[in-house]
Order: sequence, then C-alpha cells, then structure tokens
Amino acid sequence: MGVRLAFLPCCSLEPHRRNWTLFVIQDANGLRFSADDLARMLVGTGARSGPLYRQLSESLTELIERGELPQGAALPPERALAQALTVSRTTVVAAYQALREQGLLERRQGSGTRVSADRARETVSGLAGDHAASQFLNGPLATIDFATAALPSLDLVADVAAGLTRDDYLRLTGTHHGYHLRGLPALRERIARWYSDAGMPTAPEDILITSGAQQALELVARGCLQPGDGVVVEQPTYRGALEAFGRTGNRLRTVRIDDEGLDVIALEKLLATESPRLVYVQTAAHNPTGVVLSDDRRQRLTRLLDQHEVVLVDDTSLAGTSFDGRPSAPALTTHERLVTIGSMSKLFWGGLRLGWIRAVPQVVSRLAQVRGITDLGSSLVAQEVALRLMDHRDAAEAERRTALPTGLRTLTELLDRHLPDWTWREPQAGASLWVRLPQGDATHFAQIALRYGVALLPGAVFSADGSTDDHTRLPYSLPTATMSQGVTRLAQAWTDYLNRATVDVTLTSAVT
Ligand SMILES: Cc1ncc(COP(=O)(O)O)c(C=O)c1O
Repeated sequence: MGVRLAFLPCCSLEPHRRNWTLFVIQDANGLRFSADDLARMLVGTGARSGPLYRQLSESLTELIERGELPQGAALPPERALAQALTVSRTTVVAAYQALREQGLLERRQGSGTRVSADRARETVSGLAGDHAASQFLNGPLATIDFATAALPSLDLVADVAAGLTRDDYLRLTGTHHGYHLRGLPALRERIARWYSDAGMPTAPEDILITSGAQQALELVARGCLQPGDGVVVEQPTYRGALEAFGRTGNRLRTVRIDDEGLDVIALEKLLATESPRLVYVQTAAHNPTGVVLSDDRRQRLTRLLDQHEVVLVDDTSLAGTSFDGRPSAPALTTHERLVTIGSMSKLFWGGLRLGWIRAVPQVVSRLAQVRGITDLGSSLVAQEVALRLMDHRDAAEAERRTALPTGLRTLTELLDRHLPDWTWREPQAGASLWVRLPQGDATHFAQIALRYGVALLPGAVFSADGSTDDHTRLPYSLPTATMSQGVTRLAQAWTDYLNRATVDVTLTSAVT
C-alpha cells in the first residue's frame, strides 16, 4: 500500500464552519477556503511520497486540476494551513512558492494567495470543495474505507436481472420511445400498490421515479423552496440532504434526535415560533444513527401537518433495514403536504440508481417538470429490474435482518475490545453506528486515522452547524476481516491522538 499523505489540523481555526456553505457562493473570486476546509479536501487526494512540501504542492495541483480549487479561489494563509496540517510554515511556504513558479497560484496585493485565472480550470460553482459525492468521484481510497456506509448488493439483484429474457426487453423497447419522465408506468403502479397494501392509499399518479433518493432530495429542494426559506433538519442528519437544502440558500434550523428518534415536542415549539417552509426527517430508519421513530412520535408528527403550513419530507431510503422486522412501508399518513422519498439503494443495491417520490399528483407534476431540465427519466432497463425486485422485498428484508445485526455485533465487540471508552446508542436499523468519542473532535482525529490507513467521516459533516463533531459514523456492513483491521488501526490512531493532545496541553501550560 502506498503511503497516503494525511495532514492533521491540530488546532481548529473555524471548527464549526460547514463546508457546504461553499455551495451557495456563485463567484469563484469570492470562494475562500479555510485551513480546515482544505485539510479535509486534501484527504481525498492520491497517495504520495517525497519531501512534505512536494507532497503538499502535488496534492494542491491535483485539487486545482480537478477543478475543486477553482480559478480565483482564495487559499488560507500559510501560517493557518501549516497549523491545520501540523507541518512547519516553511513547508507550506515552499509548496505555495512551487505552485506560483508553475503559474498555478498567484499572490494578489491585499487578497492573499489565489488560484491563477489562466492555468486553473473553471468550475461549476456547486462542485467546488468537499461534499457527499466526493467519495464516489475519486475512486476507492487506498485505505480501509469507513467513510462510506453503503450496503453490499444482495445476490437477489443479479438473479432477478439475469432472469430477464429477450422477449422482456423487446416488450420494453418495442412499445415506447423510452422517455418516461415520471417513470416506467408498471413500476409506478407497483410501488403505489405496495404503499396501499401497507395502509397508505396511493395511486400511480402519486409516484415519480427518480435516479436515486439523492435526486429526489435535489428535486424537492428546487421545486418546493425559495431562496431564504427556513428548513428544519434533524441533528445529526444525512449529509446529502444538508447539501441539497443548503445549496439553495435556505436557512437551516435543527431539532435533536434521541433514542425514540426526532424530538417532536422540540419541533412543535420551533414551528410555533418560526415559520419554516419545509421539515426534513427520516422516520423509517435514520442515517447516521439507525434510530427508528417511535409510534407515539410518528402520530404526533402527523398531527403537526394539520396545524402548520409546512411541507414534511420523510426520507425513508433506509426502509426495510430495521432489525425487528417491522413493516417496511413507512406509514405516516396521506396529506397534501407530505412528500415521501424512497430508494432501491439500501434494501437491494445502490447501483440500480433508482428511488422515488410519493406526493400528491400536483407536486409530482411540478417536480417532474423540474427534473426534465436536467434528466429525461431514469433507465428503463433498471426500472424493469426494480419492478421484479419489488416482488422480493420480503426476502430482501429477511436477508438484511440477519446480516446487519451480525455485522453490528462484530463491530461493537471489536470496539469493546480495542476502544472501550468509545460509546454509542444501539441502532435499530440501517448500516452505521453513530459513535461518540470520549474527548477531542472527530475532524482532527480523522486526519490521524488517515495516517493509519482508515478513512472516516467526522461527525461535523452530519450536522447543519458542525456541532456533532464529538461523534463519528462507522459502517458495519463490511467484511469481518476489514472491520477487524480497521478497528485495530483506529485504536492505534486513537492512542497517537491522545498522546498528541497531552503534548499540546503540556506545551500550552509551559507557555502560559
Ligand atoms: C437518508 C438517505 N437519503 C438518501 C440517500 C441517497 O440514496 P440513493 O442511493 O437512492 O441516491 C442516502 C444514501 O446514503 C441516505 O442515506
């Protein structure tokens, strides 16, 4: 395995700044990367060797060439970056100097070091920086990947796909030009029937098939929100939702979650004092905590829809992964302001790239129009496979119900043995453990972990204000050997991290 360059931000300059605030800035000349932002982005660059300054300049070049550091963007001052990466200031000075000589950076009077306009790529404003999709953009990390909590595919997916015959394909290709903006009619009908059978009366007109739940979130953000609208999210929550809702320039408010899920009473109070346009929740199974909303709170949440003019978005992407076998169809209610999001990714396979929105037909039509601007529909071949998979939901859920708790047990036993101070709340569903670090913060620990060959996501990326950075998320659907090696390395990294913290404290008291 090549040596991976990992930089350690030892002191947090803007610890609670959210990276996705970058997404609302349109003018690259206004883009300013803090030292912590850049430290996180450097984690995603390739493994290098040689003198540190050269490793740093090569990694920065990679970010510039990928367009993630776009032309005109301001880099942090040398001293700040050196502190954030625990390298000497000379290292950063030499790296910036090398890039200036290559014409990639320039120093402007009064505005510090910027990416040169003539050499760097122009970038789409929404794609600069560190974001949920970066893990999937840059190929597999040369490390143990604890940063992704995707579930492995079930063999069922291959079996069902292999069962499609030439006649099936001819029926598909021979009857229609293939542009079904709202989705394959038979699949919309099948999903509607699944909801109806579970007690949520649904018609095919209420379903819009999307290219994954992530696209569904983006469509809802674009179709239901105006810039400046208030959006309430759980704390913590799914990172991709923060990006979708944060990108449209909306004000984010948070409500905490506990063992029973969203604190609905706190939400009620918030709705009484502010008038957010949209509330985003995960009632069926929550990423990253694995909590399932209790029945009591579910009913209370439902009643809120009658009392407040708010759009409730229930992201049920993880439905079907609960350990107790509760019915996977999420039964909130039927309401004109309820938008339910579903996905094939968790129960079956993310590679199908299929999800859906369930809403009243007017909302479905509006969101289909929004979708048509960038995408004229999802693959009908994938939808044909999904249609057949819907008949195997029970078998798929049973398989997940066995595998996920087993993986969870393996991971928690490893943590008990190697990291006995780390704590967590037992998840009831999903594929990830929300772990609390006994001290320090995960953004900085993640940098050390990377030096030991483990990539993980700091808790800050799962919250609207970065305040959950005393947590990290660990996946338990990986092979046992990978989890075992990963936790062993994490334990070594943790010892190293604690030793550094002790050194820091000693040095500080010597100075003061
Ligand atoms: C809560 C939640 N919503 C949406 C998504 C996106 O899913 P999809 O693969 O269907 O786009 C994920 C994926 O991790 C998720 O956890």
